[in-house]
This record gives sequence, structure tokens and C-alpha cells, in this order.
Amino acid sequence: MAATRRLSHTVAVITINHPPVNALSSSVRHAIVKEFGEATKDPSVKAIVLAGANGKFSAGADIREFATSALKTVSLEDINATIEASRKPVVAAIEGVALGGGLELALACHFRVASAQSRVGLPEVLIGILPAAGGTQRLPRLIGVPAALDVIVRGRHVPATEALQIGIVDEVVQGNVVNAAIQLARTVIGTDLGKRRLSTNFVPSNPNMESFLDTTAEKAKKQFRGAQAPLACIEAVRASVQKPYQHGIEKEKQLFLSLWATGQPQAQQYAFFSERNVGKWTHPSGGRWDTIAPKPVRTAAVIGLGTMGRGIAISLARANIPVIALEQDASQLEFGKKAVNALLEREAEKLIKQGLTPAASLASVRFTLDFTELCDVDFVIEAVYENMELKKEIFRKLASVCKPDAFLCTNTSGLDIDEIASVTKHPHLVIGTHFFSPANIMRLLEVVRGHHTSLMTIATAMTLGKTLGKVAVLVGNCPLFVGNRLLGPYLEQANYLLEEGCNPEDVDRALEDFGFAMGPFRMMDLAGLDVGWRSRMEKGLTGNKVPEGTPARQRHGNRYSPVADMLCELGRFGQKAGKGWYQYEKPGGRFAQPDPWVKDFLQKYRDTHQIKPRPSNPELILERCLYALINEGFRVLEDGIASGPEDIDVIYNNGYGWPKHRGGPMYYASTVGVAKVLDVLDQYHKENPDVPSMKPAFLLKKLAAVGGPPIKEWRTQVGKLTNKL
Ligand code: CAA
Ligand code: NAI
Repeated sequence: MAATRRLSHTVAVITINHPPVNALSSSVRHAIVKEFGEATKDPSVKAIVLAGANGKFSAGADIREFATSALKTVSLEDINATIEASRKPVVAAIEGVALGGGLELALACHFRVASAQSRVGLPEVLIGILPAAGGTQRLPRLIGVPAALDVIVRGRHVPATEALQIGIVDEVVQGNVVNAAIQLARTVIGTDLGKRRLSTNFVPSNPNMESFLDTTAEKAKKQFRGAQAPLACIEAVRASVQKPYQHGIEKEKQLFLSLWATGQPQAQQYAFFSERNVGKWTHPSGGRWDTIAPKPVRTAAVIGLGTMGRGIAISLARANIPVIALEQDASQLEFGKKAVNALLEREAEKLIKQGLTPAASLASVRFTLDFTELCDVDFVIEAVYENMELKKEIFRKLASVCKPDAFLCTNTSGLDIDEIASVTKHPHLVIGTHFFSPANIMRLLEVVRGHHTSLMTIATAMTLGKTLGKVAVLVGNCPLFVGNRLLGPYLEQANYLLEEGCNPEDVDRALEDFGFAMGPFRMMDLAGLDVGWRSRMEKGLTGNKVPEGTPARQRHGNRYSPVADMLCELGRFGQKAGKGWYQYEKPGGRFAQPDPWVKDFLQKYRDTHQIKPRPSNPELILERCLYALINEGFRVLEDGIASGPEDIDVIYNNGYGWPKHRGGPMYYASTVGVAKVLDVLDQYHKENPDVPSMKPAFLLKKLAAVGGPPIKEWRTQVGKLTNKL
């Protein structure tokens, strides 16, 4: 049964039961209508409690129904209107989550009691839509416009204690929430419910409200870069101010339909389900890790407390896993310890302010210089400098001091996992855990399987990723793995565009207008230009190692742009130097300003090499940079390094600032059409045969040849087509 009803003295308790998250599918909505109708009619029932089974109130509408006709049957807003109009008091007993339609249902109830661990919110904006069952109208009536916008536009999950402070719930309880709701229901039988019917109230307003809403919309335009849902949410809330409830409801409906027509909800909902599905697929090694029981990780160690090690140690401590942190010498250890403790203290203060108890304590991280202290840990993550010899030396030590069944992981950005594993006694227990910076904040984790990595090791690393609150994506072992590998051709094209006439800000603007959090040149300035320069030097691409007579445009027979190297030779390493592709207010400054010096430098470079500059063209910038990245994505699929297009999209959405409202690079390719991507790449490659990264991938050609099937069919197509490669 999608909903059940029982009687507790004079209170009917209706429990929604639709595992795993009590989504309000068509059958649930029908069941609520039936049970509520009968409870209303039953003269022995004096009040009603609405609750959710299995520790959750409800995660809202069933997102899978949006693309079907099921959504049209029994609207949630009609149910909400019936509940609100009830003459018998209705109390929502919120446990776990009340999100989206779940909270909208609770807002239609006359009272709300929440368990202390629960979270409430209207996160529809995160799946490209707006709360469309009265949420944008009832919430501002309850807590005022500014607080409602903060919750709705950011799609925040509000912890129960905060929900109580701002007035979303009436009571927060530590014990059994249904019992507390029944108790409250009994006390309000026969009382006046007038003000409790939110739709009948007016939204608190003031003469500055319109300009406040305008400013909020302007800020949202800048912050959300092309995403339409945040703006629609603001417009819907605007319609609640000094207008009858029904007016707002009509506006909600209209905005929902116009959002759907943009294609953004479909992209964001694809991204939502892709995140939940990564790792469920059979990967090219044949096995399915998710059918294997992971080993429990009770203790962990982190080697190296630099930029990455600190964040990793904090993530582990936050998940209540005691950590031993090891450094190479006393001063580095002290430095790392101070940084870790400061971050943990800051986090604890923030949580305490929100009325929450921090999971991680300073005591959960132990600091040491002694490898033998690692003899009992279950899971070790190495995060020392990116140097193969050093990493091998560390793994040799780990193999000799750790227990035989300890998992040994490396946080390398792209070194060969098999070579690292080769120095250990148990290569099947070695795996890559590629966190993103800052590791305590970024959600993405690439889990890199080596040739010998066992399914149990994969299962343990993937499960640990989830425990740390990360989106873990399993990838194969190749230079730079998936995310950084795709970045190569993208950055290459960005550099060529400078040679051909653009300035860094032109390229960044085009990609930021597309929705990227940061364009490629701002990103390189932030990461430090010297990182790539050093790696290019090692490959013999730059400086004195280039053979005499090599044309400026080529290295090893392929096109090469030396412009970034020339900047590095002048010490322009990016933000940390106060200058790079942009200029900054000081070394370490954060505000990138276009630099006339760079403009002049690029013009001189073009003059020297007799390049006739082309005017900047945003469409061309997008095609060149994005199709280069997408083409490499197809190669990654051909090579079996990612198991499907969704994996690549999840990596880009969560680790590289790709705009979620565009679904991810592979989803974007499917919306543009593989035939168009192929045409552009083909044309470019014919004109530039010395740029091998733009040679259309075999798989792209094959997909175009079979008519460019929808992305949900790519996975099977990839399997069929790659068998014939
Ligand atoms: N509809 C359909 N399926 C949903 C769902 C929803 N609203 N929410 C979660 N699920 C599914 C997931 O796809 C997943 O399915 P599988 O087991 O098949 O992979 C399963 O429920 C568990 O989800 P998670 O893996 O995400 O579990 P979690 O414990 O990590 O997180 C959660 C639980 C916080 C509820 C999270 O799933 C979530 O944020 N869900 C979306 C909430 C949301 O956006 N609600 C608004 C819906 S739209 C709406 O309500 C419109 C309206 O105005 C009426
Ligand atoms: P970092 O230079 O900030 O820190 C490295 C730390 O390792 C230093 O604190 C150093 O003292 C310590 N170390 C060196 N030798 C050691 C030894 N023998 N024993 C114990 N500790 C030792 O480097 P960062 O940036 O943290 O990178 C670490 C790893 O993470 C590298 O492999 C890097 O490629 C990878 N990575 C880096 C990212 C970044 O954005 N910085 C992102 C993802 C991965």
C-alpha cells in the first residue's frame, strides 16, 4: 500500500509508504486522497497526522514521472488545498527528509513537528524546475520573502534546528516524531485553524520589496549563469507579494511549463539520475563491484599533509573515521597539523552556531613521522608530490609496514596506478583515489582501477567515497584518467584561439556565458601556470630542449603553442605571482583584470609569426573548445576508461564547473547532435592536420553513422561499436 491509516485514540495517522524515499508518485497521491478522504469522513477521527514510513517523510514528487502523463493525474496542489481546508487539524510528522513536494505537503498541514536529525527544503531548482505545488506561495507567507528566497533559490536542505529558528516547523523533537505529532494534534483539536491556513494569509511586505526582488534576480543571473530555474523561482515568489494565493498558483504553473520548454530540467534531471547511477554499470573489466560486500574502513592514514592531504584527512575525520596523518619532517608535520586543526575548528564553530554537533573532533586526527604507526590501519591514502619515484618509495614502505589486507591508495592526478602497485606485495589492494581540490569541499572522487585491482578493493573505495559524501566515479587507468585527460584538448584549443586573435578574456567570457564557473584562463591562473610548464618541460616541449629550426607552430611534428611557456619564462605564474593571463591587485590577489600587457604581447606574437588576427567569435570559441573536449570524451569511451557517457558527465558536472543545466559534455553533444559535432571537427581537422586531438573519434563517427541515437542508448551502442573496433 502506498499509504496506510491507523487510529491512535481520536487521531488518524496516515503513513506514506513508497520506498526508498516516499516519492509522491501517482499511486501515492491516489492513496493519500483515499486515506485522507476516509479520515475526514470518519466521525471518530478528530485530528490527522501525516507521516512517512522508513524514517523519511517524503523526498517530493517522483522525478521519473515528469516526462510521463502520470503527473497529470491528481495534482499535488489539489491534495494540498484539500488538506489545508480540512476542518480537522492536520499535523505533519517530519522524519528524515521533507523535500520539494514533501515539504509542500507539510506546508499545507496546519502544524509541523520535525525530528532533530531531519532536513527540509525546496530543492526543485537543482533539478531545473521550481516548487510547483504551492511552495513558492506558502513558504513566503510563512517565513517572509527574504528567508523563503534563500531556501528556494539555493535549493538548500535546511536542518531541523534552523527550520525551527526561521519558522518553517513548529516543534523539533529528539524522540519519536509521530508520537510527538499525535500529542500536538490532540492539543489543537477544536482550536481556530484560520491563521494556520497559509494560503489565506498575506505575505509580509514593505515598500522596498520590488527593488529587493530585482536585486536578487540580478545577483542570481550572475551567480547561476544561464540557469533559468533560479530566476523562475524568484518570479514565482514575486507573484506571492500582495497578490491573492490563486494568482501565485497560476504563475507557478505557467513558469513550470516555460521552464520545461527550455530543455534545462531534462538536462538537470539526467544529471541527477546519472549521479545516482554511476558505478551501477558493468565496467569494461567485466565485473560488477556493487554486488560485492565492501570491507569496513575503521581507521585510515594519509601520507603528506599538503594541499590535498589536509582536505582528505578532514573528510575522513568528518565521517568519524580516525586518521593517522604522516609527514616527511617535523616542520612540515607542524605546518600540516596547524592547517588541519584550524580547518576542523572553523568547521566545528560553524556547526555549533547552527545548533548542530560536529562529527569530527581535533582528537580524530593523530599526527606522526613514524611509518610503523600505520601497522594497523585499514585504508591508506598517499598524497605526496606528483613524482613516480617518490610514490614508489612510499608504497614500498607501506607494503612493508601495513597489515597484509590494508588497502593502499594513491591520490595521483594521473600517474600509472599499475606502476605504483608493482612495488607492493598485493597489487589487487592498490587503487587510485583522485580527490579534487579543496578535497574537503569538492564532491568529485575519481576511483581509478588498476589492472590488478580487485572488485572488493573497488567496492571498498567506492563505498568509502559515498561515506565521505562524495560522488565517486569508477574510471580506468590511463595518463590523467578521465577529467584531466579531457581538459588537455580543451586548453589546447583555448591557447590556439589566442594565437589566432582572441584575448584571454574573450575566451573566458564565451565559456562563462555558456555557464562554466570559470573560463580556462582564469582557471589556469588559479591553478598556477608553472604546473603545466614543468610538465611540458619534462616532455621536452619547451625551452632549450626544442631542436633548433623547429617552427614556432610545431613540436614533434604537431601544432604547439609556446605562448603559455613564454609567460612562465617571465615569471607570470598566475594569481600567486599577481600576474599571469590576467593581472591581480597583488600576488595572491583574487580579482582578475584584463592586462593590456598581455594584449600587447599577443599582438606582437602574431606580428612576429605573421598571423592575421580574426575577430573574436563566441560561437566559434565554444565549438572549438567544447568539441575538442567532447571528442576526447568519445576516445575515453572507446578505450573503456569510462563505462558510459553518464560517468564523463558526472565528472564534469562535479569536478570541472560544467553547468549542470547543460547536463554534462556528452549530454550536450547529444543535444547539439553528434552529426554537427562531427562536421565541425572534420572541417577543422582537414584544415589543421597537425592537431591530432581534433581528428574525429571513431566512436563519434560511428554514432553519427547510425543516426545519432539518444544518449540513453549510447551505452549499448558503445558496447556494440567498440566490439568491432
Ligand atoms: N523521485 C524519484 N526518485 C527519487 C527521488 C525523487 N524525488 N529522490 C530520490 N530518488 C531515488 C534515487 O534516484 C535513488 O534511486 P536508486 O536507488 O534507484 O538509485 C533512491 O531514491 C535513493 O536516493 P539517493 O541515492 O539520492 O539517496 P540519499 O539517501 O543519498 O539521498 C535524498 C536522499 C536527499 C532524498 C536525495 O535523493 C534527493 O535529494 N532527492 C531529490 C529531492 C528533490 O529534488 N525533491 C524535489 C522533487 S520535485 C518536486 O517535488 C516538484 C514539486 O514541486 C511537486
Ligand atoms: P603539496 O605539494 O601541496 O603537498 C605534498 C605534501 O607531501 C607536502 O606536504 C610534503 O611535505 C609531503 N611529502 C613529500 N614527501 C613526503 C614523504 N616522503 N613522506 C611524507 N610526506 C611527504 O601537493 P598536493 O597539491 O597536495 O598534491 C599531492 C598529490 O595530489 C599529487 O600527487 C598531486 O598530483 C595530487 N593532486 C593534486 C591536486 C591539486 O589541485 N593540488 C588535485 C588532485 C590531485
